Amino acid sequence: MSDGNIVHVVGTGTIGEPLIGLLCDIRRELGIDEVTFHKRSAKLLDRPKVKGLLNRGASLVADDDKLEEFRELGLEPTYTAEEAIERASVVIDCTPKGVGLANKEKYYEKYKHKVKGFLAQGSEFGFGKMYALGINDEALTEKDKFIQIVSCNTHNIAVVIHTLAIEGKKNHLVDGRFVCIRRANDISQDAKFIPAPQVGTHGEGDMGTHHARDVYHLYKTMGHELNVFSSAMKVNTQYMHSIWFDVQLDKKVTREDVEYSFWRNPRVAVTHKKSANLIFSFGRDHGHYGRILNQTVVVLPTLHVRNENEVIGFCFTPQDGNSLLSSIAATEWFLYPDEYRERLRCLGPFLMQEV
Ligand SMILES: NC(=O)c1ccc[n+]([C@@H]2O[C@H](COP(=O)([O-])OP(=O)(O)OC[C@H]3O[C@@H](n4cnc5c(N)ncnc54)[C@H](OP(=O)(O)O)[C@@H]3O)[C@@H](O)[C@H]2O)c1
Repeated sequence: MSDGNIVHVVGTGTIGEPLIGLLCDIRRELGIDEVTFHKRSAKLLDRPKVKGLLNRGASLVADDDKLEEFRELGLEPTYTAEEAIERASVVIDCTPKGVGLANKEKYYEKYKHKVKGFLAQGSEFGFGKMYALGINDEALTEKDKFIQIVSCNTHNIAVVIHTLAIEGKKNHLVDGRFVCIRRANDISQDAKFIPAPQVGTHGEGDMGTHHARDVYHLYKTMGHELNVFSSAMKVNTQYMHSIWFDVQLDKKVTREDVEYSFWRNPRVAVTHKKSANLIFSFGRDHGHYGRILNQTVVVLPTLHVRNENEVIGFCFTPQDGNSLLSSIAATEWFLYPDEYRERLRCLGPFLMQEV
C-alpha cells in the first residue's frame, strides 16, 4: 500500500532547515503526507535544531552507522538514509557543492524508477534541468526526473531580466551586466567571515562568474540565448546580497514603464529602503521565520534609464527565500503537475509587493 506523498530533505543547513520547517507548516495545503529529513552528523550543538524539526512534525533519518550516535543524544531516527530515499515521492537535496552529484550517482539513479523526482540546489551544476519559478515552468516536461533549483543570485538576475526584457516568447535583451555584491557568510554560520571587501575573478570566460552562466542555461531551457556577464565580490556583512544591474534593451522604455513593470511582477518586491539592514529586518517581522519568498527586492529610487533603452539599478537578494519558493514549486510540480500553481497560493502571504 502507498504511504502517500512523502517529501524527503537531505541536509539541515541554511537551505535545508527552513525548507523542512516550511514544508511541515503547510503540509496539508501542499497535499504532503509526511516530511522526512536526513541529518548527517550527530552533534550535541545541533540537537535543539533536530528537536525543533521533530516537534514541527518531520521524521529524522540517519546513516546506518550513525543511528547509535543519534540515540546517545536522545534522538531516535525513524528511517535509515537509503530507506528514506527509497520510500520518498520527492527528494530535495540541500547539501554543499558536489555532495548532491555524488548522492545522485550513488542513490538517486538507483531509485529513480520509484521516486517521482529529485531536486538539488544552486551549487549542483549538472544535476538536472535548471529551474526557477515563473521563469521556465513551460520548460519542465514529464521526462524531467532531476531538477536543479538555481542559486539565490541567479534567481535575482533571472527575474530582473524577465521583468524588463521578456515578453512572452520575445526576448528584448541586448546586453545584461550584473555585479553580485555578496554577504560574507550566513547568519547561521560562524566560519568564513571576512574582515574587508574581497573581489572575485572571472572564471566563466565571456560570462564572468557562474551567476551569468547559470542564468544563460536557465533561459536556454526556454530557447533564449542571453548575452549576459556577471562579476562578484564579497563584503563584510551577514545580511543580504545586493546586485547592481545594467540591462540594455532593443526597445525604448521610460523610468515609469520600468517602475510599473517591477510593481506588477508578483515575484518581485519593490522598496524605497536603501539599506539591506532594513529589508532584512522587515523579513524578520513579516516573513516566514524571517524569510520573504520574493525572487528580488528592487530599490525604486536607484532605477535609472539611460539613452532611452538602458536600465540601471540596485536590488537585494532574499537569499534563501527565493530558493525555498522554487524548491516547493518544483516539489509540487512533481506531486501535482496539473494544479501545482494553485497549491502554491498558500505561500502568498510571504510574497511581498512592497518592503
Ligand atoms: N546559503 C544560502 O543562502 C543558499 C541560497 C541558495 C542556494 N543555496 C544552495 O543550497 C545548497 C546548500 O547550501 P547551504 O548553505 O544550505 O549549506 P550548509 O548550510 O553548509 O548545509 C549543508 C548541509 O548538508 C549536510 N551535509 C554536508 N555534507 C553531507 C553529506 N556528505 N551527506 C549528507 N549531508 C551532508 C550538512 O549536514 P551536517 O550539518 O549534519 O553535517 C548540512 O546540514 C548549496 O547548493 C547552495 O549553493 C544556498
